[in-house]
Amino acid sequence: MSAEGDVPQAIRKLAPGKLVIASHNKGKVRELTALLAPYGIEPVSAADLDLPEPVETGTTFFANAELKARSAADLSGLPALADDSGLCVDALGGDPGVYTADWAETANGRDWALAMRKVEDALAAKGPDAGRDAHFVCVLALAWPDGHVEWFEGRAEGKLTWPPRGTVGFGYDPVFVPLGDERTYAELDPAEKHAISHRADAFRQLVAAVF
Ligand code: IMP
Repeated sequence: MSAEGDVPQAIRKLAPGKLVIASHNKGKVRELTALLAPYGIEPVSAADLDLPEPVETGTTFFANAELKARSAADLSGLPALADDSGLCVDALGGDPGVYTADWAETANGRDWALAMRKVEDALAAKGPDAGRDAHFVCVLALAWPDGHVEWFEGRAEGKLTWPPRGTVGFGYDPVFVPLGDERTYAELDPAEKHAISHRADAFRQLVAAVF
């Protein structure tokens, strides 16, 4: 800090080699591994390393992404990449937002059909005029074992549809129709989703900054 304010810090580059994908969500690990493929990075998942899944105590996407990336970097001694993401529905004031995964929790694990139904029921409770605009947010946090962290935020606009359609992807993919398309994320092939998704948007920024 100087009298003139913060001096912008250079973004740290990521060297080729092992990178922990700090997620236990198979869908996210699959998408991030595919996005990393061209960059000489050797992705290792948190599950492969038997790393614990930290409790997401943050109230923002940034805080939770940082918490997951830091935990994996500390425990593995390797750089780690974490994703915190969620679905924000305008008519629900941005819910489920940072609690997107929680809406799927049941005593027997996560149930995505139930989570999609809860969002639809919440929208129905707003009445017939409630808009169906929604967006996905993805914050990627890249943490190094020395405590340094970089963040990148991506976004994808769209609309919710009902009933769910499509079999590809994960989470809320079957009810999200990205802007400019009529198919849901779960009806796109993975390469098409990678070209337009919130995760790809955040990833493009990461690539421009750290490779
Ligand atoms: P968290 O980041 O672990 O808190 O979980 C966010 C949740 O948002 C995921 O478990 C998914 O249900 C949902 N989500 C995030 N990205 C996507 C996506 O690309 N498609 C569908 N659902 C997603």
